[in-house]
Amino acid sequence: MNKEKAKERIKKLKAEILRFNHAYFVLNESPVSEPVRDALKKELIELETAFPEFISPDSPTQRVGAVLSGRFAKVVHKSRKWSLSDVFSMQELEKWEERTLKVVDRPEYTCEHKLDGLNITLWYEKGELKKALTRGNGTQGEDVTHSIRTIKNVPLRLFEDADLEVSGEVILSKASFEKLEGFVNARNAAAGTVRQLDPAITAGRNLEMYCYSLGENTLENPPQSQSQTLKRLKDLGLPVSPYFEIKKSPKEVLKYVETWQEKRESLPYEIDGVVVKINDFGMQGELGYTAKSPRYAVAYKFPAEQSTSKVLGITVQIGRTGAATPVAELEPVFVAGSTVSRATLHNEEEIERKDIRIGDTVIIQKAGDIIPEVVQVLTNLRPKGSKAFKLPEKCPMCETQLIKPEGEAVRRCPNPNCPGRKRQAFQHFVSRGAMDIDSLGEKVIDSLIDFGFVHDFADLFTLTQKQLLELPLFKQKRAKNILEALESRKQVAMSRFIFGLGIRHVGAEVAKLLVKALMQHHDLKSTPESLKQALLSLSEEELLQTDGLGPRIVEAIKEWSENPASQHLLDKFEEIGLRFTLPEKSKEKEGITGKTFVITGTLSKARGHYKKTIESLGGKVSSSVSSKTDYLLLGEDAGSKLKKAKEHGTAILSEEAFEALIQ
Ligand code: IVH
Repeated sequence: MNKEKAKERIKKLKAEILRFNHAYFVLNESPVSEPVRDALKKELIELETAFPEFISPDSPTQRVGAVLSGRFAKVVHKSRKWSLSDVFSMQELEKWEERTLKVVDRPEYTCEHKLDGLNITLWYEKGELKKALTRGNGTQGEDVTHSIRTIKNVPLRLFEDADLEVSGEVILSKASFEKLEGFVNARNAAAGTVRQLDPAITAGRNLEMYCYSLGENTLENPPQSQSQTLKRLKDLGLPVSPYFEIKKSPKEVLKYVETWQEKRESLPYEIDGVVVKINDFGMQGELGYTAKSPRYAVAYKFPAEQSTSKVLGITVQIGRTGAATPVAELEPVFVAGSTVSRATLHNEEEIERKDIRIGDTVIIQKAGDIIPEVVQVLTNLRPKGSKAFKLPEKCPMCETQLIKPEGEAVRRCPNPNCPGRKRQAFQHFVSRGAMDIDSLGEKVIDSLIDFGFVHDFADLFTLTQKQLLELPLFKQKRAKNILEALESRKQVAMSRFIFGLGIRHVGAEVAKLLVKALMQHHDLKSTPESLKQALLSLSEEELLQTDGLGPRIVEAIKEWSENPASQHLLDKFEEIGLRFTLPEKSKEKEGITGKTFVITGTLSKARGHYKKTIESLGGKVSSSVSSKTDYLLLGEDAGSKLKKAKEHGTAILSEEAFEALIQ
């Protein structure tokens, strides 16, 4: 066969195999038998071997690539990946309905299975699969394209040559899970398989994907509702779960939930609830989002699974703020898909109220990812002579007398140098949301503290190769990795650093707000010294002006900042040469005349409406974000434009803020 003919034949074979694979893996149909598909594939392989110049990444022969050598690259999502808030009962569902009805009128609800796997986002460019990302922290995921490409029902090419971002769940069927060893449940097995470096192993494990949401896209006539989305995704050749239904009321939704709660055992894969969404995108837009999740959707979780176990002992764990939390050490039991051997007992009042004693048989409960809890003691099964449990008076780690601040339920270890507190504090400092140094695991930190190599966070950055090699099980390579990771974290977002410090009440979101407040009131620079000065010079009143910083938080920040030990710590970081990145300042908002707008995402009215409004007020509308853009008008599911706007420090307006501006 000559080159021209081979090219033509390869093209045709690819299209035909795509069609048959789609029918087989996505639609569960068999228009031709398996030997026929195999024969076509064999012919394609032969032609591609003879004419390798015609091998393209979307060929069905190219699913399994080379072994990855190291860690996964981090990639910023085009649009934020939200999580869902949970409801567990009809009452909670009705409460959600009530809230939505304040904003929208007579909505329809879509019901979908809540698949118990892991959330993956696919990027198609001109119809070709280019990237697959994990959810990560919602804004940044990991590039797992090599694994996702091996999933047979994920098309390498769509039926339309569009660009699109689509999210769904990657799962492992119950049958495939049972063939594997070493995983506690199907969801963990799916996650572990996706994170495999060797795509050949991934390919052998039969993962499946089901898509449920569409992000940024270049589709003509893009869908305007969830039901249209699912239909469109299906038409594009993407796998969509077939069990989706539209409902008119929460009552009908409940029926769907109850039906599937009963029938879940008969499904080939695990589901842990039902995802309920308001169908219409216009209504979704009006409802908007809280900090974490959309207001237009909830996950109706099936009731928690329960089991019984025996309390073998009660230990006390010291957290980084000194909180002493009693923990039940249990006889290991398998519940809701994983083995449980510990359950939090919260505080001594809880132990007293439930009268939990060592030796008791207890009912434990676990819902999804939630930490297992002791629900109730089966007192009839209590052994004779058991005594009520009393929390120790002293810290089990450092023997300091525990204190119980007035009005608080928990006892605390007040010793700031308590090794228990220190461990937890270091673990928090290096954790994902903070400095993100995952080569410093729990054991390494324990050894570093035990060996006296680190006393405060700054000491991590002056560790030497020689010190690390003294630790158990350390070889050159491991030491080098850690030192390199630390070196790379000498440039870090200020908010991550602040979050890592573990100031009470200062979580990741509050840390971001604090940086914003510091920038607004102080000429903040990228150094620890400047951070110190800013923290000291800002008054409580100034801090309180920032939305989201309440009196309790501000007091904790002030207390931390005024502590000489904190100042000394920042001085040490200054000396080490730690440098911060700061978010760019957003421009002042003032009127519309002469200003340039870019509109992105799905808004509640047509784009033309906003364009007209802006132009009638003397503003301009442009199609791409640049340094000249003054405002980005932001709708739902915005993507690269939002990213760009953030890079340029462009002022971002929600629809509400826009309405306020034109008033
Ligand atoms: S929609 C804006 N639909 O549940 C909401 N999520 O708790 C985006 N999930 O991270 C998610 N099945 O991994 C949606 N039919 C479904 C789902 C589903 C499972 C997972 C998903 C998400 C998590 C939210």
